[in-house]
Amino acid sequence: MGNLTAFILFLYFFSLHQSLAAAAATTYNVLDLGAKPDGATDSTAALSRAWSAACASNKPTTIYVPRGRFLLRNVHFRGPCRNKAITVRIDGTLVAPANFNAIGKSGNWLLFEGADGVSVRGGTLDAQGPALWECKKSRGKDCPSGATTLGMTKSKNMEIIGLTSLNSQMFHIVINGCENVKLQGVRVSASGNSPNTDGIHVQLSTGVTILSTKISTGDDCVSIGPGTKNLWIENVTCGPGHGISIGSLGKDYEEAGVENVTVRSVNFKNTQNGLRIKTWGRPSKGFVRGVVFQHALMTNVQNPIVIDQNYCPNNNNCPGQVSGVKISDVSYEDIQGTSATEVAVKFDCSKANPCERIRLENVKLSYKNRRAEASCSNAAGSVSGLIEPTSCLY
Ligand SMILES: *[C@@H]1O[C@H](CO)[C@@H](O)[C@H](O)[C@H]1NC(C)=O
Ligand SMILES: *[C@@H]1O[C@H](CO)[C@@H](O)[C@H](O)[C@H]1NC(C)=O
Repeated sequence: MGNLTAFILFLYFFSLHQSLAAAAATTYNVLDLGAKPDGATDSTAALSRAWSAACASNKPTTIYVPRGRFLLRNVHFRGPCRNKAITVRIDGTLVAPANFNAIGKSGNWLLFEGADGVSVRGGTLDAQGPALWECKKSRGKDCPSGATTLGMTKSKNMEIIGLTSLNSQMFHIVINGCENVKLQGVRVSASGNSPNTDGIHVQLSTGVTILSTKISTGDDCVSIGPGTKNLWIENVTCGPGHGISIGSLGKDYEEAGVENVTVRSVNFKNTQNGLRIKTWGRPSKGFVRGVVFQHALMTNVQNPIVIDQNYCPNNNNCPGQVSGVKISDVSYEDIQGTSATEVAVKFDCSKANPCERIRLENVKLSYKNRRAEASCSNAAGSVSGLIEPTSCLY
C-alpha cells in the first residue's frame, strides 16, 4: 500500500471516528434512573438525576421520557450548564400529585432557570388543577394560590415543540426574563370557567415566538406583561378564554414598556376579548409602541378590539386617577368576524396620554347581522380600506 493510499485510508477512518463520536450523543432514559410509568410512583428524583447528568455533560444530551404516566412533584431544571444542547423528549405524560398542596405553594411545578439551549419535544403535562379550582370557588383564601405548570426564567435559546398542557393550577406557561424562546405546536386546555389559568404569559423577555398553538382556557389565551420586546405570535387559536391581552400594564410607576409585538393569523371563538390592550388607571412610566395585529378572525367575541386604560379592579388605589401608560403606533389590519356585543371596537384611552397613531385597515365586524358600533375617547389615528363599524378616531 502506497503512502498516499494509507494516508487517504487514515483520513477516512479518522473522519468516520469523528462522526461516530458526534452521533453518539448521550441519552438518559428516565426508566433506567428509577422512574416508573405507573402514575403512582414518585419519579421526581429520576428526572432530577437525568437533568444533573445532562447539565454536567459537554456532549449533546437527550433526556428521554417514554410512554406512560410519571408522577412528579416540583422539578427545578437549574442552570447554568456546561451543555448548550439538551433535548427533553417526552412520549408520555407528566402528572402532578392529586393533592394540590404538594405543588400549590411553590410558584412553579416545572421550572427552567438559567438554562441555555434546551429543547423540549412532545409530551403532556397534567397538573390536575380542577381540585384546586373547586377549592378556590368554595373556600377562597384558605386555598394555596397554585403553581404555574411550566416556568422559564432567566433562560435563553429555548424551544418548546409539540407540548400539551392540561388543567394547570394557575398559569400554564410563563416566560419571564428570557431571550430567544420559541413555542410551536403547543396545546393548552383547561375549562372555560377555571380561575387564572392563563395559557402563555410573557414578561421582561426579548425575542419570544409563539407559532401554531391552540389555547382553550379560563383566563387570557396569551398575556403580555411589562418589558416584552420583539414578540411574534402567529397561527394561534383561542377559545374559550379572555383572548390575547397586552397588559395589565401600568400597575407600578416604574415599569418597563412593551415594544414591537406582532400578532398575525389568529382565530378567536367565543372569547371574552379578541385583541386587547389594558392598563391601570394610575400614574406610570410604562408604554406600548409598535404593535401590529394582522389577519384576525372573530367568532362571537364580546370585545373584539379593545383598549382599556381605566382598569381599576375593586376601585382600589386608582379612582380619579388616569393612566400614565403611553400607547402609540398600533395597527389593526384585516380584522373580520362577529361581535357578541354592540360595541365591537372600543378605544378608551388615557386623558393624560391619548393613544396616538392608531391605524385601522380593512376592519369588518358585525353584531347579530347588524351594524356594530365603535366608541372612542382620547384616541387619534388614521384609517384605510373598508372600516365597519365606522371609525371614531380623531
Ligand atoms: C396552524 O396551527 C395548527 C395547530 O394549531 C396546525 O395544525 C397548522 O398546520 C398550522 N398552520 C400553519 C399554516 O402553520
Ligand atoms: C421586531 O421583532 C421581530 C421579531 O418578532 C424582529 O424580527 C425584528 O427585527 C424586530 N424589529 C426591530 C426594529 O427590532
